[in-house]
Amino acid sequence: MEKLAIIGCGTMGHTIALSAVISGIQVKMYGVNDEDIEGGKAGILKNLKTLSNHGFIDRDKILLLSSKIITTSSINEVIKDATYVIEAIPENLNLKMNLFKDLDNLCDEDVILASNTSGLSPNSIASLTKYSHRVIVTHFWNPAHLVTLAPHKFGVIF
Ligand SMILES: NC(=O)c1ccc[n+]([C@@H]2O[C@H](COP(=O)([O-])OP(=O)(O)OC[C@H]3O[C@@H](n4cnc5c(N)ncnc54)[C@H](O)[C@@H]3O)[C@@H](O)[C@H]2O)c1
Repeated sequence: MEKLAIIGCGTMGHTIALSAVISGIQVKMYGVNDEDIEGGKAGILKNLKTLSNHGFIDRDKILLLSSKIITTSSINEVIKDATYVIEAIPENLNLKMNLFKDLDNLCDEDVILASNTSGLSPNSIASLTKYSHRVIVTHFWNPAHLVTLAPHKFGVIF
């Protein structure tokens, strides 16, 4: 998970991005258009300010960390060089199946493709892929940068 690509910058996408960048992981985040991306960036900045106001991070880290998250509205650009992809797009099976089909075609065979689905079957999400063995579910809770997943630094930052 050295180079993480996050598809989606809504409620989950931008907080997963925040969790990863605080953990020192290189992050790129995809949004459908400029407005979507600006919304995700605003959420990241707001959350970083809250963390700083409560003494969890130094004030001078706010801009440093937020500027490290590279944003794009190009799928090709977001997955370029990625070693791990997390999908956080709307909970719609057709959307996810087609996205995973594209990701499967675009990414090298050893890149992990993870979905943040709340309840869809990973087998169904992977049904249009050739290399379905690398499709998994990594379900983060909301907000991803605060809710503990397991005793691991990713998702447990303070
Ligand atoms: N919100 C939660 O509390 C929560 C918690 C756990 C898991 N989830 C799951 O995480 C996933 C994302 O949920 P969310 O609440 O972040 O959604 P959201 O609506 O806040 O964000 C979705 C993002 O997906 C992208 N997107 C929208 N339409 C797209 C399209 N047609 N193609 C590609 N990308 C598109 C956009 O960047 C958008 O901001 C869902 O599967 C949801 O079930 C949500």
